[in-house]
Amino acid sequence: MLAMNYRGPLRVRIDHKPMPEILHPQDAIVRVTRSCICGSDLHLYNGSVPDTRVGMTFGHEFTGVVEQLGEEVEKLKIGDHVLVPFNIACGTCVFCQQGLYGNCHESNSQATAVGGIFGYSHTAGGYNGGQAEYVRVPYADVSPTVIPEGMDPDDAVLLTDVVPTGYQAAEMGGIQPGDTVVVFGAGPVGIMAARCAWLFGAGRVIVIDCVDYRLEFAREYAPCEAYDFRSLEDPVVFIKGTTESLGADVCIDAVGAEAAGSALQTVLGRKLLMQGGSATALHWAINSVKKGGIVSIVGVYGPIGTHIPIGNVVNKGITIRANQASVKRLLPRLIEHVQSGVLDPKALITHRIPLEDVSDAYRIFSAKLDDCIKPVLMPPSART
Ligand SMILES: NC(=O)c1ccc[n+]([C@@H]2O[C@H](COP(=O)([O-])OP(=O)(O)OC[C@H]3O[C@@H](n4cnc5c(N)ncnc54)[C@H](O)[C@@H]3O)[C@@H](O)[C@H]2O)c1
Ligand SMILES: [Zn+2]
Ligand SMILES: [Zn+2]
Repeated sequence: MLAMNYRGPLRVRIDHKPMPEILHPQDAIVRVTRSCICGSDLHLYNGSVPDTRVGMTFGHEFTGVVEQLGEEVEKLKIGDHVLVPFNIACGTCVFCQQGLYGNCHESNSQATAVGGIFGYSHTAGGYNGGQAEYVRVPYADVSPTVIPEGMDPDDAVLLTDVVPTGYQAAEMGGIQPGDTVVVFGAGPVGIMAARCAWLFGAGRVIVIDCVDYRLEFAREYAPCEAYDFRSLEDPVVFIKGTTESLGADVCIDAVGAEAAGSALQTVLGRKLLMQGGSATALHWAINSVKKGGIVSIVGVYGPIGTHIPIGNVVNKGITIRANQASVKRLLPRLIEHVQSGVLDPKALITHRIPLEDVSDAYRIFSAKLDDCIKPVLMPPSART
């Protein structure tokens, strides 16, 4: 089968790989119909995530048709068209039982900090992902969800990650009616977080990034105020200035390890890899939230220590909430929001690229060429 193949930092290509096989009675084999590239894949692509092995296939946002089932799978049938949440979750461990499906204790034998994630290095379990024609889906009865009748598959594929992550970013912010919410990052996740902030009662939503077409998109789609941090002398001073010197009620970090904006953070976190990523957006979030406010982090960082202003966290009495999104927990509500038109995720999809051109797709998304917000890879069988 065709599959994306990681060859080392900034090098991915399409290759022929063996078909995945059922390895456990709770597995399914799914024929992929759509798979996205996520900002999280860029951390792998750039070589920032430890133990990202040459030969692995990335891709944790995908839909597909069930082709084979292990003998213990009960809820799925051959031929079902499913959306597959990015978290691999056992459904029964102490964390899954609390709805913390992103923190499953069973699905990742390589680490305890995070559960398994499709196509996300051996630190997240070493599973191959969905940027391929076929993929093995473990615990097939737990998270994969049949795409509801009438739902556009483009909406469905974004329910595997972007929509729940943006929604959870807003949810973790504990937004109160009328709150001012600042979202750092106008990638797909930040844009969705800004949109969802209104659902929790925000009174004002501000997005900060440095890519004009993304800021423009956020202004229309969220809708919100959106500013280029390069045109602000200091984003923290700007946010304080526009909130009567108090700071924002809630700040969301939807940037993570690849943040621009600080030479020191870029050198330490992205060039020398001496910390778990460049924490510029997180710095700005901590410093521009009001005293007693909440910082919600969905941006991904590496496992090693990162230089952040913890003294300011203490002195300002800030609450920090962070996690991988718990997709399965949020799906019932978010499917409803898509079906009723409250959320329109497919509007984020700007590029539909043949799977065979996966290396171009990474280059376009990574370099933010051609006004790219969200690219979807289409395997050959899904294009006929
Ligand atoms: N927690 C989760 O469950 C989860 C799920 C999906 C994605 N993520 C993470 O969320 C983050 C965003 O994902 P995405 O797909 O939107 O990525 P993306 O790379 O498309 O977007 C990131 C955006 O941040 C902007 N940016 C860079 N430095 C900035 C700064 N200092 N301040 C403000 N903006 C800045 C970039 O210009 C870019 O537009 C990534 O770190 C990704 O790994 C987390
Ligand atoms: Zn993702
Ligand atoms: Zn579990």
